Amino acid sequence: ARVVVLLSGTGSLCAALLAAQQTAFTVVAVGADREAPGLAAPRELGLPTFVLPLRDHPDRGSWDVALATAIAAHEPDWVVSAGFMKLLGPAVLARFGGRVVNTHPALLPAFPGAHAVRDALAAGVRTTGATVHLVDEGLDTGPVLAQTSVPVLPGDDETHLHERIKVAERTLLVDTLVSLTSSRSGTP
Ligand code: GRF
Repeated sequence: ARVVVLLSGTGSLCAALLAAQQTAFTVVAVGADREAPGLAAPRELGLPTFVLPLRDHPDRGSWDVALATAIAAHEPDWVVSAGFMKLLGPAVLARFGGRVVNTHPALLPAFPGAHAVRDALAAGVRTTGATVHLVDEGLDTGPVLAQTSVPVLPGDDETHLHERIKVAERTLLVDTLVSLTSSRSGTP
């Protein structure tokens, strides 16, 4: 199955997908909303990448259409939002709805949004984790596909806790994508 990955940051989740490529899926392109460090790894592998900063477009709607077009050019079976910090709009969802997967560093529905790790720490939870879910029009909503729990340890700060979550999140994302692509139809 052909996968397009979307990222905004360091791209450790994308790197995990690139490392795990196997018969079940191959990453065919990586897109970003900014010149993100995470684009280095796919570029080193010679994979196509595309960058679509929101500010380059007159409004959100035209950015969303441009993103849908850029993704479609690579004919993906699945789109994976791996630390992509923008809501995917109606043009993307209309084109790929039901085939867009997001990963989130908390046990949704707890702690949605861009500060999940910080919010979990502030709430004083003893256990948090990661969620992989199908993307719908909401923010970190959509049907949950898989979750894994991660302990919050005494003295954790946001960085240490997030790194611990990301270790589990990487495995969760790869395993979920393998199960999605090996069981579902779609271009092998
Ligand atoms: C991941 O925890 C993702 O769930 C969150 O931001 C992090 C991205 O990490 N949105 P990276 O850019 O893949 O290293």
